[in-house]
Amino acid sequence: MSNIIDGKEIARKIRAEIKSKIASKKNAPGLAVVIVGNDPASLIYVKNKKAACEEVGIKSFEYNLPENTKEDELLSIIGKLNSDKNIHGILVQLPLPKHMDSQKIISAIGPEKDVDGFNPVNAGRLFSGQPGLRPCTPLGIMELINSTGVTLTGANAVVIGRSNTVGKPIAVMLLEKHATVTICHSKTLDIANIVRRADIVVAALGKPEFIKGDWIKKGAVVIDVGINRLDSKKIAGDVDFAAASKNAAWITPVPGGVGPMTIAMLLKNTLKSYETYTVI
Ligand code: GUN
Repeated sequence: MSNIIDGKEIARKIRAEIKSKIASKKNAPGLAVVIVGNDPASLIYVKNKKAACEEVGIKSFEYNLPENTKEDELLSIIGKLNSDKNIHGILVQLPLPKHMDSQKIISAIGPEKDVDGFNPVNAGRLFSGQPGLRPCTPLGIMELINSTGVTLTGANAVVIGRSNTVGKPIAVMLLEKHATVTICHSKTLDIANIVRRADIVVAALGKPEFIKGDWIKKGAVVIDVGINRLDSKKIAGDVDFAAASKNAAWITPVPGGVGPMTIAMLLKNTLKSYETYTVI
């Protein structure tokens, strides 16, 4: 049976460290959270992000814009936030309504305030090994893997999913730590046999229990990024947790694995922005 990687507890410790660092600062870091429309899942994410900010002493400023907001209006708000000295991080909750070009919006966020790490400047910095703000979920995944004490150098890491937000950046971060990385996606042939060779599995494809227990190598580390709402209203990950637990040495639960880490890393990125660009 596996050891469970307790993301909730690891995230709690990180929040406590952030809180004590912020307590010693003269001014609170500020995070602007922009949400357009009323997507129920997005509203919950934003509420959780605001509560986490409050817990650690980050001032959050919410911009709740109607669904029919024009792209130019959003760009103008982002422009103002970019030059606002009290704002150190800007987060535009995704997905945006269909009439908006998400790439254009993300590109408008000043790279030094891009606490999501989605701006192409920060993506380029990650890709070329330069310091910058990195996406929160992959940062959280790296913390979870580190917590197991497993060595990444030379390990076979298999990432399932090739999104700009998780799959691609986590693959680069694992590569940076000298893992041999394979990225699988919807057109990959024989995913099962690729996963069977993996010492590290990162499942981020968004299909409930797609990764079967008998695909998991004995002793592997399994990180499940999936949050899939089933018809029964239950939440399932991308991995068949019960079956995978029989083979994995370490596995993250859903919920309580990657999710809390994403928010903890958002707070960490906001503090990083503040520390890097605030003249004290
Ligand atoms: N929507 C779902 N997850 C995220 C996230 O991490 N950041 C943003 N901006 N939007 C999201």
